[in-house]
Amino acid sequence: MDEIKCILRNMQEEMRQQKADMLDMKEDIKNTIVSNMSEKYNSLEEGEELLPLDNEAKVIPSPVDYVDTWKAMEKLVDLGLTKSIGLSNFNKKQIDRVMEVARIKPASLQIEVHPYLNQVKLIDYARFLGITVTAYAPLGSPDRPWAEPDEPRLLEDPLLKTIGKKHNKSPAQILIRYAIDRGLIVIPKSVTKSRIIQNFNVFDFQLTAEDMKTIGSLECNRRLCTLGE
Ligand SMILES: NC(=O)c1ccc[n+]([C@@H]2O[C@H](COP(=O)([O-])OP(=O)(O)OC[C@H]3O[C@@H](n4cnc5c(N)ncnc54)[C@H](OP(=O)(O)O)[C@@H]3O)[C@@H](O)[C@H]2O)c1
Repeated sequence: MDEIKCILRNMQEEMRQQKADMLDMKEDIKNTIVSNMSEKYNSLEEGEELLPLDNEAKVIPSPVDYVDTWKAMEKLVDLGLTKSIGLSNFNKKQIDRVMEVARIKPASLQIEVHPYLNQVKLIDYARFLGITVTAYAPLGSPDRPWAEPDEPRLLEDPLLKTIGKKHNKSPAQILIRYAIDRGLIVIPKSVTKSRIIQNFNVFDFQLTAEDMKTIGSLECNRRLCTLGE
């Protein structure tokens, strides 16, 4: 099956780069995810390019149905090559298509979640199915290359700053704690040692019910990670 070969090739390359064996591998590689970058597409065209674009700078979709990819990923679990498998950027309809054929239930659904895009309905649906939710871009992904210079920055939001001051915490810590208190797995990214330490330091305070409600009120359906057309 070409899909299995393709996934295996990616895993082997990752192991080669990390000079690691299966046990040492990064969690997100050990736990394979199938990612759909747009609601319209199956996934992106396979190959070296992370973001394959055509002559008109539009993303090139994969000809492979993600349902077939899912079946191939189940085989990887059978072979002991990955521990768990999950989905990323799938909407309800796409999750349903996978669930219809799945022998193995997706362990997690990784989606963009932060106070500007709370994803209440999709999170409720995943929970109803017994799928955990992993929140990516929880800090508003300020370093994403396509960020507009004048767009509202989550980490600069005055409301979060005020709540942060009250608890003697940074807006980033408030955002991480907010996600945890919503029962989400949260994956803030940082390459800065002091921030990585700061981002772990979120278990010595508690957001009040009022704080949670206030932060939730920032919802404005603002999706940051989209490939557009
Ligand atoms: N499945 C998907 O389609 C998908 C899409 C997007 C992202 N993701 C994953 O989700 C994870 C996080 O997403 P992300 O990196 O886009 O967004 P993010 O975690 O919301 O934001 C990361 C940015 O926040 C900064 N930052 C981190 N901690 C901070 C702190 N305490 N104070 C101030 N700034 C802080 C980082 O700066 P420094 O690094 O310079 O410290 C970096 O610029 C990544 O692992 C990414 O791979 C998945």
